[in-house]
Amino acid sequence: MDKEKVIVLDFGGQYNQLVARRVRECNVYCEIYSYRTDLDTIKAMNPKGIILTGGPNSVYEEGAPSYSRELFEMGIPVLGLCYGAQLMQHVLGGTVEKAPVREYGKTEVFVNTKSELFKSVGKASTSIPTPDISLPEHAANNSATQCWMSHNDYISKMAEGFISVAHTADCPVAAAENKARNLYAIQFHPEVLHTIEGTKMLYNFVRNICGCAGDWRMDSFVETSIKEIREKVGNGKVLLALSGGVDSSVAAGLLSKAIGKQLTCVFVDHGLLRKNEGDEVEAIFGPKGDFDLNFIRVNASDRYYAKLAGVEEPEKKRKIIGEEFIRVFEEEAKKIGTVDFLAQGTIYPDVVESGLGGESAVIKSHHNVGGLPDYVDFKEIIEPLRNLFKDEVRQAGLELGLPRELVFRQPFPGPGLGIRIIGEVTAAKVSIVQDADYIFREEVDRAAAEYENEHGEAPSWMPNQYFAALSNMRSVGVMGDERTYDYAVVLRAVRTIDFMTAESANIPYDVLQTVMNRIIKEVRGVNRTLVDITSKPPGTIELE
Ligand code: XMP
Repeated sequence: MDKEKVIVLDFGGQYNQLVARRVRECNVYCEIYSYRTDLDTIKAMNPKGIILTGGPNSVYEEGAPSYSRELFEMGIPVLGLCYGAQLMQHVLGGTVEKAPVREYGKTEVFVNTKSELFKSVGKASTSIPTPDISLPEHAANNSATQCWMSHNDYISKMAEGFISVAHTADCPVAAAENKARNLYAIQFHPEVLHTIEGTKMLYNFVRNICGCAGDWRMDSFVETSIKEIREKVGNGKVLLALSGGVDSSVAAGLLSKAIGKQLTCVFVDHGLLRKNEGDEVEAIFGPKGDFDLNFIRVNASDRYYAKLAGVEEPEKKRKIIGEEFIRVFEEEAKKIGTVDFLAQGTIYPDVVESGLGGESAVIKSHHNVGGLPDYVDFKEIIEPLRNLFKDEVRQAGLELGLPRELVFRQPFPGPGLGIRIIGEVTAAKVSIVQDADYIFREEVDRAAAEYENEHGEAPSWMPNQYFAALSNMRSVGVMGDERTYDYAVVLRAVRTIDFMTAESANIPYDVLQTVMNRIIKEVRGVNRTLVDITSKPPGTIELE
């Protein structure tokens, strides 16, 4: 069946995944492709609409990313955003040049609510400033709202057939449309949340202008995927490395629903998991759990600790942990013999970031299962989540009946506690950090739940990632009448959206104090608790 879809042509801007994300929030399926994708390939995809993203270049520069005129002549609705808007004008005969005023940040924009793009957008406004270049259409811009601007160039003359349907004090063409040809251009960024009604604008485009029915939903994704997996796998055998993280767990759930015992999950417990985590994974996916599959748990902690003995350097630890994973998995895979498919929990941002989808290619190796395919005897890779964003993966997880704690769990690095113990990793240190981390998370969760019960919403300090780490520092303390010489635990809690930058989360002092008291009292080998309030940058979220 030809799935209704909108495609995003990526011109290298930083918000491109967001564009696709917002379109999917309108229940319209959307994929990102490089602007280098040729027209025949685009036509063959039969998109209901095309969105051109922003990008770092100037359209009039030699060699700047471009697209041929035919893209705009297929009769398929096209929406250009920022660079995409300028490109549309440039290619169709308008003029783009350096703007007299560079606009950046939250900006008041006046839109024309008669335009399909801005239907029901903004509040009626009586004071509408006109920018320097006066265009008669501005009088029709009757409604004000806030947008996010970020541009050096501007559209100084629109291509034939276009009218301006939005402007700001400094930008005469903040949006343009050629209704007859279904072409729309927006200078600002409707995809970022600072454009308060941006999602409504994108909704107007994909649902009203492109005419998408909006039937992209996670329950239908789960149902369709199960069918597709069954068709693809037939009677074949599938092997999956299950880490207990969200992605591999959802992949396991989905595959299990589709093919049951034809799926084998190998769960390597490297002894660097959080307290009780190995048992929790087993409780969900093991023989006593609700999922029909073959579950193999490998308790490999001794092997890992032996390999890590005496190693202090963080990257070396990461490498050893990664390589040992491959060794252990390879041994298990040999016992199973040839399989037809190796399943992986790759998700859409991994695909886009590895340069396969869009243009903003930050090559990121798949750190947790890096190199695995080279060591397993299989015919084909199967990646059931490769079209989903993280929050869609979570939704699919809930649809599949995975526990909420697992579906919404905070990120946990592949090398696990190995990179939360500064210096050499030993079984004794792992046990200390597991216990301290458990207490910290328990108290933060308890305080957050109490706040939520009282106020009906999560506290503003609720961290997106929080854990305890073990510093390599030992210091003198007193416990009762005795002198101690023990380790210092570091508490780290950050608020972040993308994990690329982060702020220290402002956990209430009384919570920290409870945590400190409990850790010192309950965890042997610790006599100090430190709180790390460094933001990222300059720090990283993990300590190693
Ligand atoms: P940093 O420490 O780089 O962390 O600020 C950003 C996010 O990435 C996670 N992280 C890792 N995840 N393998 C992983 O799978 C790693 O080696 C690794 N190092 C950091 C970290 O937990 C945070 O969410």
